[in-house]
Amino acid sequence: MSPQNPVGSPAHTLQQPAAVIVLAAGAGTRMKSRTPKILHTLGGTSMVGHALAAARGLSPQQLAVVVRHERDVVAAHVSGLDSDATIVDQDDTPGTGRAVQVALDALDSGAAGELLGTVVVTYGDVPLLTAETLQELVRTHEDESNAVTVLTAVLDDATGYGRIVRAVDETVMGIVEHKDATEEQRGIREINSGIYAFDAATLRSALKQVDSNNSQGEMYLTDVLSISRSGGGRVAAQVSGDRWQVEGANDRVQLAALGAELNRRTLERLMRAGVTVVDPATTWIDVGVELAEDVTIQPGTQLHGATRVARDAVVGPDSTLTDVVIEEGAKVVRTHGSGARIGAGASVGPFTYLRPGTVLGADGKIGAFYETKNVTIGRGSKLSHLGYAGDAEIGEDTNIGCGNITANYDGVNKHRTVIGSNVRTSSNTVFVAPVTVGDGAYTGAGAVVRKDVPAGALAISVAPQRNTEGWVIEKRPGSAAAKAATEAAQNTNSTEESDRS
Ligand code: UD1
Ligand code: CA
Repeated sequence: MSPQNPVGSPAHTLQQPAAVIVLAAGAGTRMKSRTPKILHTLGGTSMVGHALAAARGLSPQQLAVVVRHERDVVAAHVSGLDSDATIVDQDDTPGTGRAVQVALDALDSGAAGELLGTVVVTYGDVPLLTAETLQELVRTHEDESNAVTVLTAVLDDATGYGRIVRAVDETVMGIVEHKDATEEQRGIREINSGIYAFDAATLRSALKQVDSNNSQGEMYLTDVLSISRSGGGRVAAQVSGDRWQVEGANDRVQLAALGAELNRRTLERLMRAGVTVVDPATTWIDVGVELAEDVTIQPGTQLHGATRVARDAVVGPDSTLTDVVIEEGAKVVRTHGSGARIGAGASVGPFTYLRPGTVLGADGKIGAFYETKNVTIGRGSKLSHLGYAGDAEIGEDTNIGCGNITANYDGVNKHRTVIGSNVRTSSNTVFVAPVTVGDGAYTGAGAVVRKDVPAGALAISVAPQRNTEGWVIEKRPGSAAAKAATEAAQNTNSTEESDRS
C-alpha cells in the first residue's frame, strides 16, 4: 500500500486530464507596454500565473504553454513559476488552431506517446478563471462523452467574440468569429470563451482539416467544433453564469477592472472565513496572502506577496505590507514594510518603515518614525520613537530611548551593533558600529558609543556643558531673545529685592 493512496480516499474522483494547453503566443499590443501582456499582474500574480494555477488545479498529466511573442521573457517567467510546464514554440502559421496543433504535436512526441483522453485548452490572459470552473467543464465533458465541450457565456455586448451557433434543437453547430459573422449571427449573445475540453483523438484529426480560409487568414481552433460535429462527435457547450471568469484583459482598463473584481472576490473569501475587513473599498489583498480568523484589517491597507497574519492581529489603517509575517494579537498601524516578522502581541507604528530582515520579538515595540533593517529585537524590547536600527541585534526587555541611531555604514562597509538584554539607552544615543553593549548597561543622553560598553556600565560621551552668562543680551541686542533675557533678569532682580525686604 503506497502512502499516496490512503485507504478510504474517494472512489469517484475526477479523472486527471491528459493535458492542459495554455495559449500565450499572442502579442497583446493594446497593453502598449514593454512588458508582455500576460506578465502584467493583478492580485500580486501575473496573468499567466493565474492561468497556470487554474490549470494545475486539474492535476493534468502534462501542462504545455504555447509561446511566441517575447518568447524568452515569457518562457523564463513560466518556467520560474512552474518548472514542470512544457514550453512550446508556435511557428509562423498564425491562429489558435495552429497554437494548439504545435502543442499537441510536442506532447504527442513526448515519452508518454500520443495523448489519450481529455485535453483542456485555456488562455494565458483570462485571470479570473478558476480551477473549479475547469473541473466542472471536464466533468461535463466526460460525463456526456463529448468530443468537444466549450465554455460559453451570455453577454449583453458580444462584440469581438466568436459566437456560438446552435441548431434548432439547441445543440451546438459551431463557432463563427465576429469578423466572419453575418449581421444575423452578430445578434447572438452567447460567446466562445476560448476555453474547451477536447477528446485528444478528435482534436488531433480535426486540426488536420482546419485551414486558413477566413477573414483573418488564421488557423481557427474554433473550426474544430463544426469539423468534429460533421465527423459524428458530440459537441456541447457549458454556459458559465460568471462573465468575469471568461473575460480576458486586453488593455489596462480591462486589467484594472479584472484586478478590482479579483480583489473583491479575495476579500469576500476572507470575510467569509472570519476576517474583519472594515472597508473593502480601500483594502487590497493579494491572492497569496493568508489571514487567520479574527484578524482585523483597518481601512487603507494593502497586503502583498506571502504576507501572513495570525489570529486577533490588527493591521492598519493605512499600511502597506509585502511578505510580512504578523503573529497572534500584534498591532501594525500606518506602517510600510517588507520582509519583516512581527512577534505575538507586539506593536508597530504609527509611521514606521520596516525593511527586510526586521524581526520583532513578542510583546516588543517599534514606534513612531522608526526605520529598521536587518535587525533582531528580542522579546519585550521597545524602540519607541524616532530612530534607525540597522544591522543590529537587541536582547530582551531592553528600552531604546528616543532618537537612537545605529551608525552602521562607514561609507564602504556595513557593521553590526549588538545590544544586550535589559539595557536602557537615553535619548539620542548613537551606536557607532561595530560595537557591543552588555546586558543591563545604560547610556547617557546624546552618548556617541564608539567603544564597547560592559554589562551594567553607564556610557556617557558628552563634553561638559559651558554656559556663557549674558551672551544673548551682548551678542543679539534688540532681538526678541535679548528682550526676554532682559525681562527675565529684571524679574529675578525684583524677586531678590522683595525676598530681601
Ligand atoms: C478567440 C476565439 C474567439 C473567442 C475569443 C475569446 C479563435 C479563432 N477565436 O478570439 O472565438 O471568442 O478568443 O477571447 O480561436 N494565441 C496563440 N497563438 C495565436 C493566436 C492566439 O497562442 O496564433 C493565443 C493568444 O495569446 C490568446 C488566445 O490565443 O491568449 C486568444 O487569442 P486572440 O487573438 O485574443 O483571439 P481572439 O481573436 O480574441
Ligand atoms: Ca482575445
